[in-house]
Formats: sequence, C-alpha cells, structure tokens
Amino acid sequence: MPQYAVVIPTLNERDNILPTVERLENVLGSLDWEAIFVDDDSGDGTWQLLLSIARTKRRIRYIRRLGRRGLSSACVEGMLSTSATYIAVMDADLQHDAAILPALFAALASSDATVAVGSRYSGQGGIGQWDKTRARMSRFATALAASALLAPCTDPMSGFFAIHRRIIDKTAGDIFLSGFKILFDILTTPGVDLRVKEIPYTFNARIHGDTKLNTSVMIDFAWLLIKKICHRLPIANFAMFCFVGLSGVGVHFAALYLLLHVFAQSFVMSQSIATLCAMTSNYILNNKITFFSNELRGMSFVKGYFFFCLACTFGACVNVAIAQSLHTASFSWFSAAAAGIVAGAAINYITSKLFVWKSI
Ligand code: GDD
Ligand code: MN
Repeated sequence: MPQYAVVIPTLNERDNILPTVERLENVLGSLDWEAIFVDDDSGDGTWQLLLSIARTKRRIRYIRRLGRRGLSSACVEGMLSTSATYIAVMDADLQHDAAILPALFAALASSDATVAVGSRYSGQGGIGQWDKTRARMSRFATALAASALLAPCTDPMSGFFAIHRRIIDKTAGDIFLSGFKILFDILTTPGVDLRVKEIPYTFNARIHGDTKLNTSVMIDFAWLLIKKICHRLPIANFAMFCFVGLSGVGVHFAALYLLLHVFAQSFVMSQSIATLCAMTSNYILNNKITFFSNELRGMSFVKGYFFFCLACTFGACVNVAIAQSLHTASFSWFSAAAAGIVAGAAINYITSKLFVWKSI
C-alpha cells in the first residue's frame, strides 16, 4: 500500500496529463506513491489518455465519473479511494508547482502538522502572472475567508495541499460537494484536529486548456463563505437568523395577500395560514443556512419543525408580553413594539439554537 497519494481532479485537461505525470515521476521518484486522477467524463479524450497511461504505469490510477461534476466532490472521491496515510490534492493544469510535493508530505510525516498547504501568500510564494483583477479578487476572497477559519492559514483558497488521511476520513461527510474550495471547507469544519504548516510556491500560468472558474463557481463559493462565517461568528449567525426572519415577513405578506384576494378566505384563516407559511420557510432557510452544520434530515427534520414552531410561538408570547408591559408603563406604541420584536427574536434564536438545532 503506498504511503503517499496525489489526487488530481481533471476536466478537459488532455494536453496537461502527460507533462503532469512526468513531473510527478520526477519529483516523487523514490517515495512510495500513487496518483489518482479523477475525471468527470471529459469530452476531449482526457480519460482515454488516463486509461492508456494507467495500463502501463502502476503508480497511476484514474476514476471516470459519469453524470457528476464538481471539483470538491472529485477531490473527496479521489481521497476516499486511496488507503495512503498522506494525501495531496493538486490541479492537473501545471499551475501548481509539483516540486513542493515532497515538502508537503514531509511536513506531515515529520512534524505534528495535519494539513500542509501550498501557499501563494507566505514566504517566497507568489501568484505569478495573474492580472490585477484576478489578483484583487483572490486577495479579497482570502481576507473574507480568514474570518471563518478555525486554524490560521495565509492561503485558505489554495487548491494545492496535503492532509493526513484522518482529516479527510473525519470531514468527508461535511464537505460542500458542489464547491471549488475544498481546503477552505476543511479548515472551517469544527471538531477537526487542524494543525497547519505552509510551504510557499509560485502559481504558474496555464498553458493548455481553459480555467473552469466561472460565475456559478463564484456564487457557490459566496454561499459557502456566508454559511461558514455565520457558523464561526455568533453575531453573524444571529444576524443571519434575523435576516431569515425578515424574509419570513415577506413570505407572510405574500401568502396573506394571495389567501385574502385570490382565494377569498376569511382574515383569521388567511392570517393563520400565512403565519404557518412564514414559520415553515424560516425553518427551511435556517436549517439550510443559519444552522447548516447541524442540518436536520429525515425524522429529525420533522421533529425539529415541530419544536421550531413551538419555539416561535413562545417567542411571539414573550414579544407580546414585553410590548404590552412597556406600553402600559407609558412607552410609545412604537418603542414598546420594537422592544417586543427584539426580545422575541432573541428568544427565538436562543431556543432554536439550544433545542431545535442543539448547536451549543
Ligand atoms: N473532476 C473535475 N470536475 N475536475 C474539475 C472540475 C470538475 O467539475 N472543475 C475543475 N476541475 C479541475 C481542472 O481540470 C483542474 O485540474 C483543477 O480542477 C482546477 O481547475 P481550474 O479551472 O484550473 O481552476 P483555477 O486555476 O481557476 O483555480 C485553481 O487554483 C486555485 C488557486 O490554487 C483551483 O485549484 C482553486 O481551488 C484554487 O483556489
Ligand atoms: Mn487552474
């Protein structure tokens, strides 16, 4: 069983495969290693080439995935397919400098680090020939990402790193599979033994093929980032909960309007159903975003819904009680109502966190 594995996701990288294999052979020479290319059924002949190489070189393996896409999911699948102790992830387009692979592995094998990161922003590392816009975007995303990290790292957006297999065995089930930034995902997963060491390198320009970084990848990343920051910073988490609550107000009024004016229901009936609609949409959104790391599924989802409705009802009672007592104590209707809303939201948040998603 090889001790070291390099997982290489590929999507239409035919012209980069042979040079990548050659580099791996040169730099990893005497180590006990294997490479696993994970190809998403590229239409340019990538997997056919990988097949022919794998038939002649025992260190080279490949996986051809059908009907699936995604850099992170390809990396996870490759990592889970090897039993090596130390697993690196590297792009197939020669942009990551394979020369530092031995240093990445050595950082794991001979120190107490569990994650070794090829970094463009530490020591002698660099971003190579990126234009100003991409450089700025990368710096901006890196700075934002830093607020969600559970272990310090100058280049959490790097797609070039090595980890101890313990880490992937533990985090695999939590990784956002349609994402692009698997390292960031790992470094923001709670409850993992994260000790990071960085190895500087300079990012190379792409010579063959095209980048797969597109708008949908960026939107997916923004989504992942929001969720992770919400998880890391309690205040952002609470702000997200309030934001979801606000969206519930929109749902409420939309449902109320429809029931009253389109379905001609009585006001009491319409108001009751609209309240239920708002609670349901709040529950689904909070489950997916605010408390995503404790996402409820199956029967727990149903039970959670029941408790969430109960928590909201309790929050509403506290809201009314506080507003009423302030109003009686001659506060203006506006400030009494505002205080009630704030107290109700805080109660909703605390009870949801403690009893529905049990995230404390
Ligand atoms: N199997 C599979 N499926 N592979 C994919 C997919 C996919 O859906 N999308 C991209 N890849 C492969 C590409 O073939 C390439 O080998 C690698 O993933 C990176 O894709 P690029 O399109 O070259 O991305 P990039 O250069 O813009 O960004 C890379 O470098 C950044 C800086 O280190 C990625 O590795 C980023 O994660 C990284 O932040
Ligand atoms: Mn690339």
